[in-house]
Amino acid sequence: MDFTRADFPEGFLFGAATSSYQIEGHARGNAGSTHWDTFAATPGNVVRAENGALACDHYSRWPEDLDLLAAANLDVYRFSTSWARVLPEGRGQPNAEGLDFYERLVDGLLERGLKPAATLYHWELPSPLADLGGWRNRDIAGWFADFTEVIMGRIGDRLWSAAPINEPWCVAWLSHFLGQHAPGMRDIRATARAMHHVLLAHGRAIETMRGLGMENLGAVCNFEYAQPADESDEARRAAALYDAYYNRFFLSGIFRKSYPEELMEGLAPHLPEGWQDDFDVIGQPVDWVGVNYYTRKIIAPDDGPWPSHHEVPGPLPKTAMDWEIYPEGLRHFLHHCNEHAGGLPIYVTENGLASPDEVQGGGVDDRQRVEFLQAHLAQVRQAIAEGVPVAGYFVWSLLDNYEWALGYEKRFGLVHVDFETLERTPKRSFRELSQALAR
Ligand code: FCB
Repeated sequence: MDFTRADFPEGFLFGAATSSYQIEGHARGNAGSTHWDTFAATPGNVVRAENGALACDHYSRWPEDLDLLAAANLDVYRFSTSWARVLPEGRGQPNAEGLDFYERLVDGLLERGLKPAATLYHWELPSPLADLGGWRNRDIAGWFADFTEVIMGRIGDRLWSAAPINEPWCVAWLSHFLGQHAPGMRDIRATARAMHHVLLAHGRAIETMRGLGMENLGAVCNFEYAQPADESDEARRAAALYDAYYNRFFLSGIFRKSYPEELMEGLAPHLPEGWQDDFDVIGQPVDWVGVNYYTRKIIAPDDGPWPSHHEVPGPLPKTAMDWEIYPEGLRHFLHHCNEHAGGLPIYVTENGLASPDEVQGGGVDDRQRVEFLQAHLAQVRQAIAEGVPVAGYFVWSLLDNYEWALGYEKRFGLVHVDFETLERTPKRSFRELSQALAR
């Protein structure tokens, strides 16, 4: 890698991120069914109908995985807690094995000198709550606060940081409008409700964690740079609308206690009654903002129903996800978050790429990942030089894992996982990163 710790401010933290359903092995340890299990079991939703039943079997192999984090010289580990592992029915009786698992994990991190950064929800909604309407039902805010109380009552005293919900846009828009993630809906009313309820649940969880005396609480959003397909006013307006519901809606709710005005034409008719009265909960103060960033999208107008636009392929080099590589977008969003969050620390909570990695001669030569990480970290350094208080950077991901609707073939890890044997093989990027971060 073309950097060392000395190129970043004193105390800048480096980490790796994962999520529960993508690595743990959800069939282990008496976890309950989730909407990802049933979404994956429905033909056409997921490549080869793969699911997270075994994944990386991190549930059993976590000591080895935490050793890898330490060997990479990382400072922080961002993981998530599965709601259905803690509360198999979503509410009611906790699963003792689930609570024990997360306690072992947190203690294992602390023993290795790693800071635990927890995300409460990274997408596997318990099926009984999905049956009740899931994110479309306003009651989810209360169910989520109760789950927060149970899991944080157990591990909250030892966490370095916590955030309620990974990527509200994916929970709401990707899953209820585009139908690409569980529950696979395509409905504007469901989407508008999910967008609002996900923020309400965020606010209730922040309140709950404050009540437990927890500190260093944040919000993690994902961002895609919206590039107009051409120089027409129509294309510019289309990209601005995409930017509004993708990149501005959630930050605006949390930090400005309002939603972007230009979205009201499409969303207001479908928002739940009384939504205007919820902003004091939604806008609970947080301590930091997390930026998940991967790519940009080229947006062209069309005459379909609102939001009346679609994506078109772009000319830049692409990753195995077919995502254009556009590091400048990361710096753009670091500034964007700083404008909303006014001086709060900003963390890049996810950044990385999928590449077609294979083990050869005992190693994996993922040069493309090394270059990708370097290019994005250069943008982070530039943003810091321009005055943005970026305080840390997390690679997505520690391990190759279950990439949702794309199954196991998109490899994002610093560490290769053989999904037959579950053997872990650190890639070239892992070795170069651990050298760059050596103290
Ligand atoms: C993010 C998700 C993460 C992973 C990466 C590639 O949107 O948070 O789980 O799927 O994309």
